[in-house]
Amino acid sequence: MEIIKEPSALRELAGQWTRQGRTVGFVPTMGYLHAGHESLMHLARGRAETVVASVFVNPTQFGPGEDLDAYPRDLDRDAAMAKAAGVDVLFAPSPEAMYEPAAATWVEVPTLARHLCGASRPTHFRGVCTVVSKLFLLVRPALAVFGQKDWQQLAILRRMNADLGFGVEIVGGPIVREADGLALSSRNVRLTPEERGQAPGINQGLALAEAMVRDGEADAGRILDAVRAHYAAHVPLGEIDYLSCVDPDSLETLETIDRPALFATAVRFSAVRLIDNRLAATVSR
Ligand code: PAF
Repeated sequence: MEIIKEPSALRELAGQWTRQGRTVGFVPTMGYLHAGHESLMHLARGRAETVVASVFVNPTQFGPGEDLDAYPRDLDRDAAMAKAAGVDVLFAPSPEAMYEPAAATWVEVPTLARHLCGASRPTHFRGVCTVVSKLFLLVRPALAVFGQKDWQQLAILRRMNADLGFGVEIVGGPIVREADGLALSSRNVRLTPEERGQAPGINQGLALAEAMVRDGEADAGRILDAVRAHYAAHVPLGEIDYLSCVDPDSLETLETIDRPALFATAVRFSAVRLIDNRLAATVSR
């Protein structure tokens, strides 16, 4: 596996792949890789001739006071994991290499970005869209794989890709969970032991919502009340940033569950904010 730090070197290599007609699969990450990222790399490996992954803690998607500096980083460990997962090229640029000091261009999808995480992180998704656009232009992949844990990010990037005509196949990789149900996240290492003990309750609450929908409950408000009660009892160290029931495509609030519904949440602990979601659908009887 080759490690590339300079955008110009990656652009050059990607140009060669294009001329050779190679199918390139791309897995953008912010590093501190875990089994969730590995599963995305395996998905790309199974579908592309050349697999590129990036490790870049993108400063433009962090707001003031967020955890940019504290975000865990370990490039040697990431490189070993990426290599073992079948990645051919790991792109690990510096912030200076990715952004000129005078950079002033943003890519935004405001309609989808104002919901869920965007309500408390108003500049987050324009940072994500901007960096992913820049990465797509460098790598020129045929397909790119993103985790479904950040469902909103996936929905926004699908819209951006269609609107700007990147022509990339956007693939969503299923959420990978710990044995106790906690969704894998690079940020989980920053939970205190007590918080780590409670954090699986996040998924349990969402699973409760899913079960209620399956059992025929159609009132989203009643379901969200039950999940809130579950969090109060089982995740008292976590403060709910949002807990919502939305249409999985438009991300608009659903009050009545008359179609598949996404239950999504963000929960703040002392040093980290964790997100999770579950798609719920009524079972026709
Ligand atoms: O999901 C992430 O890790 C990041 O938002 C991404 C897509 C790599 C952009 O920085």
